[in-house]
Amino acid sequence: MPKLQERPILLAPSILSCDFARIGEEVARAEAAGADWLHVDVMDGHFVPNLTIGPPVVEKVRQVARVPLDVHLMITDPVKYAPDFAKAGAHVLTFHIELCADAAAARQVAAAFRAVKIAKVGVALNPDTPIERVLPILDAVDLVLVMSVFPGFGGQKFMPEVLAKTRALRERGYAGYVEMDGGLNGDTIPACAAAGADVLVSGSALFGASDMKAAITRFRAGAESARRETTHAR
Ligand code: DX5
Ligand code: ZN
Repeated sequence: MPKLQERPILLAPSILSCDFARIGEEVARAEAAGADWLHVDVMDGHFVPNLTIGPPVVEKVRQVARVPLDVHLMITDPVKYAPDFAKAGAHVLTFHIELCADAAAARQVAAAFRAVKIAKVGVALNPDTPIERVLPILDAVDLVLVMSVFPGFGGQKFMPEVLAKTRALRERGYAGYVEMDGGLNGDTIPACAAAGADVLVSGSALFGASDMKAAITRFRAGAESARRETTHAR
């Protein structure tokens, strides 16, 4: 794996903020604008107070998308649905640590995702969940998703207090992907990258931009220069 400083910053527009009546065109718009991954928010109305999309829509998006699908499960039973999301074409599949009673239970979820041949397994933590919950399972995942809003809705305000968790993961030598999600835009992205995040999700700020390509270019440049200027040990 290349050193952290050399690994590219990945921009992942969240299709939660796209125009669902024209989802194929929106996927193409994001890709033409420079999206590295497409972030797909799956909500079940139980784990979060909102309902979004499920495997049939993910499968349709997969058919038109060229970039990997980064599927963020905000559902209470990720193991039950993992085979469906694998079949639908999820490249990254992320579950929430809050659903797991302990580290052994979290390992079982990660193992169930691997068993259905998910390429990259992620674990997410809410703003009020300490990183100690995920530290014992870092060897079992490829990605840690540090939520910078409480999950459920796009368009919320970034919570800067979670940056300490991203920093702490890197300071402990975690070399996998660290993704941040919620309230990311041109103003908040530099701090995420400086803290050590390398996968940046953005919904409303990108799909709401009149020129998405200019926005992605600006977000990427802001992340890369913030990372270059950061001196803390990696
Ligand atoms: C929130 C979702 C996010 C959301 C981000 O529950 O997990 O991925 O789409 O949207 P913005 O960038 O608008 O905060
Ligand atoms: Zn998300």
